[in-house]
Amino acid sequence: MANAPFTIGSVVVGRSARMRAVFDFVRVIADSDSSVLVSGETGTGKELVANLIHQSSSRRHKPFVAVSCAILSETLIESELFGHERGAFTGAIKDRPGRFELAAGGTIFLDDIDDVPLTMQVKLLRVLQNRVVERLGGTRQIPVDVRVITGSKRDLRALTAEGKFRDDLFYRLNVIPVNLPPLRDRREDIPILVDHFVKRYFRQRGEEPRGISPAVLQAFMRYPWPGNVRELENACERIAQTCTCDTVRLGCVPVSVLFHKYAEDQQPIVETHAHPSAVSLDDRLKEVESNLISWALKVSGGNKSKAAELLNIKRSTLGDRIKKLELTHLEVGDS
Ligand SMILES: Nc1ncnc2c1ncn2[C@@H]1O[C@H](COP(=O)(O)OP(=O)(O)OP(=O)(O)O)[C@@H](O)[C@H]1O
Ligand SMILES: [Mg+2]
Repeated sequence: MANAPFTIGSVVVGRSARMRAVFDFVRVIADSDSSVLVSGETGTGKELVANLIHQSSSRRHKPFVAVSCAILSETLIESELFGHERGAFTGAIKDRPGRFELAAGGTIFLDDIDDVPLTMQVKLLRVLQNRVVERLGGTRQIPVDVRVITGSKRDLRALTAEGKFRDDLFYRLNVIPVNLPPLRDRREDIPILVDHFVKRYFRQRGEEPRGISPAVLQAFMRYPWPGNVRELENACERIAQTCTCDTVRLGCVPVSVLFHKYAEDQQPIVETHAHPSAVSLDDRLKEVESNLISWALKVSGGNKSKAAELLNIKRSTLGDRIKKLELTHLEVGDS
């Protein structure tokens, strides 16, 4: 079936033609030793793809070592990647192998390669050309048999044009390019990803997975997901932590997703019912109100003052509405 969801191990990865093409390609290139450059916005799954390449290759019984180059200062990157000898710098109290050595026979994934400073790029290029590393403060040449995969959230080719990334290193890294599209360009993946993550996080909490109301899916489909799959995964985790309903409803969706500023021509989202004509506006408003109040009580741990603050209403008003909507079972203590 052209559009059936596809999975890798226990991970549901997508159903869009674009993601299918990416994962088909990944299988084809897995066993080559050429460098791969995985590019894509934050949270699009670059590390997931790098790991999959490793797991599908003959190197899978050897280590997969992932390093983010973004958080490290220049000396730290060097010592992290190539290791150091005792006394190489203040704090280097013993010999330490670098990540290249630790990945021996396997794969190293250098994420955020676009953040590596120019001077470090020269050293990296030398390692890739000569296939040996030298620990900081050391003189020994240590051979490395490692497949190199890099991840970049920016367009590396454009950075080379601006002189911010060495073009000789770029060509060496970009032997096999893999581009991951942002989630907003493959919205057909959203429903199965939501289903997958919501189930996973309810299970992790030892609870039965719940259904998801169509309105919730609609909200997820509309939101632009600037943080891509990671942001969607976090939203699903939060739902599993806060939802107490039989079915995940609008009131259980994180407010950042729900109250995102939508294009003006879009209709507001409401829960739909099996027999819409039999449901009054008052009933629907009550439902939205109940959902939001139960959400606020849940996240504030039953503290009514905090819940009222979250809802931007007075504490006494919240008390009145809880009574009116018969939500007293949600009250905890008399906070
Ligand atoms: N297609 C997918 N299917 C299932 N889970 C996914 C998919 N893509 C990403 N994820 C999950 O989303 C989260 C973020 O993915 P990952 O860390 O691979 O992104 P990244 O592109 O490396 O992000 P960053 O640029 O911030 O480093 C992870 O928990 C990952 O398992
Ligand atoms: Mg990453």
